Amino acid sequence: MSDPLASLSTLLAPLFADLNGGAPADPTVRPSDRADAQINGALALAKRLGANPRDLAQQVVDSGVLTDVATDLEVAGPGFINVTFSSSFLESQLAAVVGDGRLGVEPASDSKIVVVDYSAPNVAKEMHVGHLRSTVIGDSLVRLHEFLGHTVIRENHIGDWGRPFGMLIEHLLDLGEDVASDGLSQGDLDGFYKQANAKFKDSEEFQERARARVVLLQGGDEATLVLWRRLVEMSNAYFNRVYTKLDVLLTDDDLAGESRYQPLMEGVYGRLETAGLLHEDAGAMVVYPPGFKNRDGDPLPMIAKSQTGAFMYATSDLACVVDRVERLDADLMLYVIGTPQAQHLQMVFEVCRMAGWLTEPTEAVHVGFGNVLGEDRKMMRSRAGDSVKLADLLDEAVERAAAAIAEKNPDIVPEERLVVANMVGIGALKYADLSTERIKDYVFDWDRMLAFEGNTGPYLQYAHARICSIFRRAGIDRASVRSAHITLDQPQERALAMRLLAYPSAIDTTLDSYSPHKLCTYVYELASDFSSFYQECPILKSDEPVRTSRLALADLTARVLEHSLGLLGITAPEQM
Ligand code: ARG
Repeated sequence: MSDPLASLSTLLAPLFADLNGGAPADPTVRPSDRADAQINGALALAKRLGANPRDLAQQVVDSGVLTDVATDLEVAGPGFINVTFSSSFLESQLAAVVGDGRLGVEPASDSKIVVVDYSAPNVAKEMHVGHLRSTVIGDSLVRLHEFLGHTVIRENHIGDWGRPFGMLIEHLLDLGEDVASDGLSQGDLDGFYKQANAKFKDSEEFQERARARVVLLQGGDEATLVLWRRLVEMSNAYFNRVYTKLDVLLTDDDLAGESRYQPLMEGVYGRLETAGLLHEDAGAMVVYPPGFKNRDGDPLPMIAKSQTGAFMYATSDLACVVDRVERLDADLMLYVIGTPQAQHLQMVFEVCRMAGWLTEPTEAVHVGFGNVLGEDRKMMRSRAGDSVKLADLLDEAVERAAAAIAEKNPDIVPEERLVVANMVGIGALKYADLSTERIKDYVFDWDRMLAFEGNTGPYLQYAHARICSIFRRAGIDRASVRSAHITLDQPQERALAMRLLAYPSAIDTTLDSYSPHKLCTYVYELASDFSSFYQECPILKSDEPVRTSRLALADLTARVLEHSLGLLGITAPEQM
């Protein structure tokens, strides 16, 4: 264990249990502004035992358990203990991390099967910025869980089924496959959809055909299915282009669209019936999950089957939960979907609990997120007023990054610049998205996300590249300093070391709330600590052994920067 706070907690556990008459008691070790750490557990324990908290805290100090760990232990306030770690303790913790490919992060003790439902654009519709958020946040959660040793199953629940497919297929036939394919795979999904919709509105003949086609589709007519598959493939070709540009892990193997759950719905519906959960409501068949009310305070139904006998979006999500629990054996299901679908998901989960399909310890979590707003603070639109085309947005990010790099580093060779511009542009976009508290809306602002200062992707990538360049310019192989002993004398060295050692707990807090912005905050603080260190502590100009010690600290910083950015799905170039 390399995190000094966690180590402290482990060291104190037996003592606290002793004081508590043998039963475990949490020492409650927290970061502190005044010292390196604070032990708060004596307060709660004293209360439980009816003892004086300051006396109990003093007993902890006098026990001698922390002699090797702390240079200073001070009982403060009503009974906190402020801890200042000894340099030798921190140095030994660091030594363990330097030689560790996992940078001090241990795999989770309970490896789980985690299903992540994310991205999920709709066939023959433009991916919107909401799908961008889902894709970027989901990708980071996948990487984080995989790193901790969980088995992650990625599911891209694309909208590939439903009534609109009647008109979409007919429009495909009208246009001819080649024309349709050109438009769709180029990303003109909205155009295709709008044309089909306009025809549907204007022509009764087209409506007839579209309706008949839905019936054929639902009846499994092979010729219709062939056309439907073409439509799905053409859209997927476009989605895949976006995924490649975005550099996310999704592939065709991860597709698990709504269509997959259609054959399962009848069975799921039957199970609701058998369980006696179905009620009739104005001709529809519904379930009333407890705790959901409409505006008038009446119970809110989850519609399982409409008046016309059709299964609903909710029914397909029920089938989807059943599939994930019963076939995939999921322990944890994450739904990375915008907050507008919060109620839908909560109702689905609740119905699954009522039916006994979702039982502890299996968990379903809605990882919701806010909207992306334009500078006018309204939902982001293109200048023409349409929803923004995602592929264009990504291209623009890369172009802007290329311009910024050309200005900052005119010496970089053109081919290299292009590679770096990709990493910086896409990284900037992802970081802007990930670094805001995910539940909140955020304003999309090119200048801010691409700035080389502040809490931005480029700033963090630059911090990494700067460290790489220290080694490059001095002609020192980074790996060569990894067996060096790091000594911590200056306060900036200590602060940086404490931050590096806190990497595992930063990952823990991030995953506790499925909130990548917490990891972003950590990375930013790490870069800031490095910056202070770099300002106050000369590296190459110092004499040995300080020089090598500082090089080792710099190298470790670069490794943690690169790795943590990697968990956010962001690549850190070695120069920029
Ligand atoms: N396709 C849906 C949309 O664009 C999102 C699907 C999310 N996943 C799910 N299991 N409902 O809104």
